[in-house]
Amino acid sequence: MVDGKYFFRFSYGNPKQDHAMQSLKLPPLGYDFSALEPFISGQIMELHYTKHHQAYVNNFNVALEKSKDAEDKGDLATVLALQPALRFNGGGHINHAVFWTNLTSPTQGGGHLHPGPLHAQITQEFGGLDSLKEKMGSLALGVQGSGWVWLGYDKTRKHLVLASCPNQDPLSLLGYVPLLGIDVWEHAYYLQYKNVRADYIKNFWGVVNWDHIEKRFLEASL
Ligand SMILES: [Fe+2]
Repeated sequence: MVDGKYFFRFSYGNPKQDHAMQSLKLPPLGYDFSALEPFISGQIMELHYTKHHQAYVNNFNVALEKSKDAEDKGDLATVLALQPALRFNGGGHINHAVFWTNLTSPTQGGGHLHPGPLHAQITQEFGGLDSLKEKMGSLALGVQGSGWVWLGYDKTRKHLVLASCPNQDPLSLLGYVPLLGIDVWEHAYYLQYKNVRADYIKNFWGVVNWDHIEKRFLEASL
């Protein structure tokens, strides 16, 4: 800020600026690839994390560098042409970074929602965990092509929300805080469940890290 209030700058992508967008890095997974078995196979987890998420990170970083170069040259057409790649790969990174933390081994409490603030909120808004699972499952089955289904939090209305997002669009584009996501891209389940998405969704609940999701809920609802 220069002399208070009348300083404007284009804050996206210029490496010379204080808060320029930095390259993305693959975050630590936090558990072994095999930790979610038998619900999600180690083979799926290894490919999903080391290939798919890594590709979103790599492709975002390439698009970001191109965008920075184009911005430096004043090449608006190229900056605009890169927006879909930034949105898709940046969204892929955001979604998967949350998704990994949403899961934990069944031997580490995966699948168990203990009585507490989140349990109470789910009961109040959905009538219970089974009802929430049913509603999220229906949304997940209804996703056409590739996308995500989210349990999120609406900070304005102070409510839990359910939403589908196409492709890799992050839930934040709808204005909500992501709490729990179901990745319904085929890469998340095809090696184990083939084309039977319903079985993947049914088994997914066995590795949900509700303790972590409750922390996200409490932070969002402050
Ligand atoms: Fe994925």
